[in-house]
Amino acid sequence: MERCNRLVDVGRRQFLRGSAFAAAGAAAAVSLPVTPARAAPGLALVEYPSNRLANIADLKPNEPLDVGYPDDNAPGVLLKLGTRVEGGAGPDGDIVGFSTVCPHKGFPLNYNAEDRTLNCPGHYSRFDCEAGGLQIWGQATQNLPQYQLRVDKKGDIFAEGLDELIYGRLSNVL
Ligand code: FES
Repeated sequence: MERCNRLVDVGRRQFLRGSAFAAAGAAAAVSLPVTPARAAPGLALVEYPSNRLANIADLKPNEPLDVGYPDDNAPGVLLKLGTRVEGGAGPDGDIVGFSTVCPHKGFPLNYNAEDRTLNCPGHYSRFDCEAGGLQIWGQATQNLPQYQLRVDKKGDIFAEGLDELIYGRLSNVL
């Protein structure tokens, strides 16, 4: 019985020693110098080229004008919608531009002047040109990339960026 008590005593001492180590470790962890939190590095900055795409005089109301932006391998259109829309450029706030590559699987989009939508013959996604390229139907999972436009005093229309990723690219600017 005495042997049994000794073993219990040894076990108790080992437990206390282990607890002391654990407490010391915790104290050390707490007292480690605190490095100030840093913001995550920004995503790779994409500098968009400012490209002149057309002049206002080149546009006819509600007729798409084919353009390429940010390079010739990225087809798109300029549209003068005739009514002021959010994000619209020019004196009437009605000029918009979009990529015409479907964000679902890259089919080329067709313009429907009746309801001012761009439509995909592939799987029938539809995008509202009066609502910033909002997807209103179909299988795409993002809105249509819209150009950021600027119109200068001479009426020249410049694209200076896109608000979504063009289909098939890791970066809009290659
Ligand atoms: Fe346009 Fe599929 S490629 S909806």
